[in-house]
Amino acid sequence: MSEAPKLFKVTIDNITIEVAPGTSILNAARQIGGDVTPPAMCYYSKLQGSGGKCRTCLVEVAAGSTADPRPMPKLVASCRTNVMDGMIVKNITSERVIDARNGVVEFLLLNHPLDCPICDQAGECHLQDLGYDHGKEGTRYEFSRRTFERENIGPYIQLHMTRCILCYRCTYVADQLTDKRVHGILDRGDHAEISTYISRAIENDFSGNMIDVCPVGALTDRTFRFKNRVWFTKPVDAHRDCPTCCGKVTLWNRGDEVLRVTARKDQWGEVQSYDGKPGWICNTCRFDKKKLSDWVIDGPTKVARHSVIGANHYIDTKRPQETIAEVMGGRKPKLLMDIHKVSDVNKPEVLLSELPGPATGDTFEGDVNDYSTNITDGKMGNPVNEEGTDSTNPNTA
Ligand code: SF4
Ligand code: FES
Repeated sequence: MSEAPKLFKVTIDNITIEVAPGTSILNAARQIGGDVTPPAMCYYSKLQGSGGKCRTCLVEVAAGSTADPRPMPKLVASCRTNVMDGMIVKNITSERVIDARNGVVEFLLLNHPLDCPICDQAGECHLQDLGYDHGKEGTRYEFSRRTFERENIGPYIQLHMTRCILCYRCTYVADQLTDKRVHGILDRGDHAEISTYISRAIENDFSGNMIDVCPVGALTDRTFRFKNRVWFTKPVDAHRDCPTCCGKVTLWNRGDEVLRVTARKDQWGEVQSYDGKPGWICNTCRFDKKKLSDWVIDGPTKVARHSVIGANHYIDTKRPQETIAEVMGGRKPKLLMDIHKVSDVNKPEVLLSELPGPATGDTFEGDVNDYSTNITDGKMGNPVNEEGTDSTNPNTA
């Protein structure tokens, strides 16, 4: 009978667990969960070779192993360093780590615009979260920030390179999920950029997954851009019998409208796995199935409590007893005010999901079919930027 493989004991922030040899410090910390887990902007467990680019996951190794308990002199990238038996790791209990992470975030924000108020990723952006945890209120950077023209990569994806943090995740998706990668990182250093080189469109059944893995707002869904803020939508888990992918998705609804379809994400912001396989979804499910009747609803999506999207999505809450009807002689609050009568932005006849671009003021005050003429935001059109929009504005701070 073969012996069960010996497990390695590792202590992270004073919590000891046993993990299989070959486990990275980051994945060991994920098994513990909570604050002990370092943030990861470039590592993605479902993408082979990812990690080692962003340095947000740095940790201190206070003791290398039982056999050699010397500390490691420098902080190490936890996504690329495997545990040893008896290793002692410090993450949030190390001042050096916190200081280094503050510095890494400052570096990531050197060129990244602080345009969260108009960025579609706001509310589910890992850099935004990191910025809140480790960001400084000012910048020491005195040079002009890098800015790029926005670029449409095919009919469904828009690249806003100004926001890219060069994590390489999207290139791994293209390499590992699609059969013809036509984009990559060109040039090096301050000139490095994601590009399709000769602006060739990425047309592939699984290319939309690049949007899901992008940790910032650099790759966005053109069918959803500027349609809504994520925290106003209600995410529900749904499935369909799809011949191409697992068909298990999250629908981001506003009322009965499906505004966006994404893969289902786990607590680390990565796509969930089913039977050990990553639940990537195909472009048909993502971009073409935008009707509730296309889907079988499984139930509300469980959203992390700290996320802004989690607001109003409490499950099993105990509501206080309603007393308005009692004191109003039986009239219920909804009889007192109909939101559609008092608000211009909640007109039921406006179908945001059916508009080819973002809605405008006119959509709500005249033509319900009106949409933005900024052609980089619409589904069709040439990738030309309007002068002065966020990505061309060098003053974007
Ligand atoms: S576009 Fe997004 S996923 Fe691709 S390298 Fe940039 S930040 Fe990463
Ligand atoms: S997550 Fe480890 S270096 Fe980026």
